[in-house]
Amino acid sequence: MIFTPTPFDPEQIVFGPSALKHLRDFLKGRNYAPEDIFILTDENTANFCLPELPDLVHDVPGEQLIKISAGEKSKSLKNAEKIYRLLMEREATRQSLLVNLGGGVITDLGGFVASTFKRGISFVHIPTSLMGQVDAAIGGKTAVNLDGIKNQLGTFSFPEQVLIYTGFLKTLPEEELLSGFAEVIKHALIANRGYLEYLLEQDLHNPGTDWETIVKRSVEIKSDIVLQDPYDFGVRRKLNFGHTFGHAFETCMQRKGRAVSHGQAVAAGMICESHLAYLKTMISFTDLGFILSSIQKFIQKIIIEADDFDVIFDLIRSDKKNERERINFSLPDRIGNVQINKGAAHVEILECLNFYKML
Ligand code: GLY
Repeated sequence: MIFTPTPFDPEQIVFGPSALKHLRDFLKGRNYAPEDIFILTDENTANFCLPELPDLVHDVPGEQLIKISAGEKSKSLKNAEKIYRLLMEREATRQSLLVNLGGGVITDLGGFVASTFKRGISFVHIPTSLMGQVDAAIGGKTAVNLDGIKNQLGTFSFPEQVLIYTGFLKTLPEEELLSGFAEVIKHALIANRGYLEYLLEQDLHNPGTDWETIVKRSVEIKSDIVLQDPYDFGVRRKLNFGHTFGHAFETCMQRKGRAVSHGQAVAAGMICESHLAYLKTMISFTDLGFILSSIQKFIQKIIIEADDFDVIFDLIRSDKKNERERINFSLPDRIGNVQINKGAAHVEILECLNFYKML
């Protein structure tokens, strides 16, 4: 397979209130006719966000508006198939465009469908959640879940445009905003201590919070990493900080019927993985304390019990980021940098879980 070195183009990410107007120019510039355009939404974004795109709604025939249920369960092959069939019935061609308007579920699923339908049609992301704007819509990963395993199927495929309007964040429930904010904290911890200090000054309940600055800085950090390694063979793994423990927490809590948000699980994961870095003498006790208090300032702790440790360990061992028997972590060596491909022993992982449980 031949990879182009930079399939990812940060220039295609457009910010600000004019981002939505930009869509009209983009569609005109590419000569898309209304019958070429399909829009994927969920019931929430159809209600709260679609009205912000009056031209699109007016021009695109109603039957080309595809609405699915909101929530992670929708990120399935079954829904992908449903969308393929709708595209076929409505005679979509390789020249058609799919506009994905929604959070991470919509952009992951819509990107997956667009990148596989007729071997790939063009797509545009309009992420509406904080998680979508700073993470899911950036960097060309598309996915659906399989048998309860997250992102088991997917492609690397890069949208033509990502249009980011932070005004949409006003419609988000607090839990969802905080879930995305965990990824924002992650960006600061892996790349920029000064950014972390800026974040610590923020009161997220303040309606005047400058989300545009926050989202832009996070997108810059992620874009910078993706540009160096678009297909996730090396440095992009820095973005996995907190996710090896985090995914295990997320699945464990879901199985227990006490589901937590992705961001809450990643926040817990970042605390455990920082403790792991401390055990390996990669960071000082002072840095560990600073990371911990920074995360806990915003994100609530998950309650785990000693009885969960074996399940969490097994989930960590089956993480798709591992290579054969080796469990891979991305661990901080200071505040503002992480090292990739760090291994850990069973006993160290248990020690981190114990540390977290005792907080
Ligand atoms: N969310 C991690 C990545 O895009 O690589």
